[in-house]
Amino acid sequence: MQTIIHISEETGPGFSVVYMTADLKKLPASVFSAHELDYLRKRFRDDKKDLVSLNRLDHWVFVHLLGKDKRLNDRLEACRKAGRQVAGIINEHRVNDLSLMSTGDHSAELMAFAEGLSLGNYQFIKYKKEAADRIHTLTDIYLVSESLTEEQAGLVNITVDATCRCRNLVNEPVNYLNAQAFAAEMEKMGRKAGFRTEVMNKRKIEALKMGGLLAVNRGSLDPPTFTVMEWKPEEPVNDRPYVLVGKGIVFDTGGMNIKTGEYMNNMKCDMAGGAAVAAAIYATAMARLPVHVVGLVPATDNRPDGNAYVSGDVITMFDGTRVEVINTDAEGRMVLADALSYAKKFNPILVISIATLTGSAARAIGKYGMVGMQHRAGREFSALRNSGDFVCERIVEFPLWDEYAALIKSEVADIRNIGGPDAGAITAAKFLQHFTDYPFIHLDIAGPAFVEKGDDYRGTGGTGVGVRLLFDFLSKKK
Ligand code: BES
Ligand code: MN
Ligand code: ZN
Repeated sequence: MQTIIHISEETGPGFSVVYMTADLKKLPASVFSAHELDYLRKRFRDDKKDLVSLNRLDHWVFVHLLGKDKRLNDRLEACRKAGRQVAGIINEHRVNDLSLMSTGDHSAELMAFAEGLSLGNYQFIKYKKEAADRIHTLTDIYLVSESLTEEQAGLVNITVDATCRCRNLVNEPVNYLNAQAFAAEMEKMGRKAGFRTEVMNKRKIEALKMGGLLAVNRGSLDPPTFTVMEWKPEEPVNDRPYVLVGKGIVFDTGGMNIKTGEYMNNMKCDMAGGAAVAAAIYATAMARLPVHVVGLVPATDNRPDGNAYVSGDVITMFDGTRVEVINTDAEGRMVLADALSYAKKFNPILVISIATLTGSAARAIGKYGMVGMQHRAGREFSALRNSGDFVCERIVEFPLWDEYAALIKSEVADIRNIGGPDAGAITAAKFLQHFTDYPFIHLDIAGPAFVEKGDDYRGTGGTGVGVRLLFDFLSKKK
């Protein structure tokens, strides 16, 4: 269950509370005894921690020391992490509510703390039959602050709600979430938030001749889907839409170039880009942002079968480009290419694709950030990177130099679907760029999309990466 964040004049019914302060001297003497203050000073000094807890038997008191020397973004990330730590402690002790307050005006820090607390409270327990005693107890967070508004608290609730919806979709296995079920979930989100959805079925996809999506789908027993989402407010700030394109491979076996050993594990996460697109538009619509946004999610599983596409096949894509298939495990770019060509019809101001596209990106920088590339979108890229630093979904820019195009030239067709052994994340993006004629940003989230071991407030399994990034980016357009 998701925690609800409230603005409140007093502490919640359970009296457990977090004090955030940049200066221990400012802690109220009415709450902390001299003895406790001594203890706090000592713990902060000796243990070099930024969070200390006091167990007062019937309630908890936490103190989070804000690093004065840190830059804002680092301070906010420290708050999210401390929030996650507090979530762990109070769930273990079966506490239901928690109040957050600060000495001095620290609105942004309070919001970040609440965000880390509720994102850290997330569990995917749909399939657990015997876990009643492990279900998290935290349900309500009270922000006790004079400067914070209901609207700001609402934005944190929306951000967390959207991120957790994304995580749920990523964590769902393919035996529940095939392409059709995924599309149905996106429609459900559209109904809840009030954005338009249109799910194109196999017949429509065939009529449109989306050769890339159909090629990948040929080994599947389930039909593909192509979901179009649109949030178009009355008076948008942009007269041409932002288009978000997300990879929706609901499971990636590799196809005929089947993945071996451990490499197939967790490949239910291969629609994390598509889920991030749906969730970002969900948040945008829930917050009623005055920004016109379109989302495109081509979806199918990638499996071997009697009629599956194979190496050597030449595929005619939606835009007429002929692609020589070299490796069926490079399927993400096949489905994204059709979506990127389709995006042209919206006359977009900018297109951002987001995908668990290459192991190469994951190997380059790990789970700590995503690889980003851009073509004709330098200014938008720095804005996106600033959002990435702000929400700590960081982007590292890789180049898209012309020379890389030579690596995907084909002898028999226009281009081939993989490059050589080098620069795999870049040649994948270069392939995508072929299908664009607008300012373009591509984000490879293969590293951070899914983590096996709990990674702080980012959770275990699907992290929801990309949602907070895209939502913050779009929020700053208004
Ligand atoms: N879905 C994978 C990429 C991936 C790997 C995502 C690890 C998350 C974690 C993608 O479809 C893929 O298989 N890529 C291949 C491309 C290769 C055949 C050129 C890869 O990276 O090995
Ligand atoms: Mn693959
Ligand atoms: Zn894949």
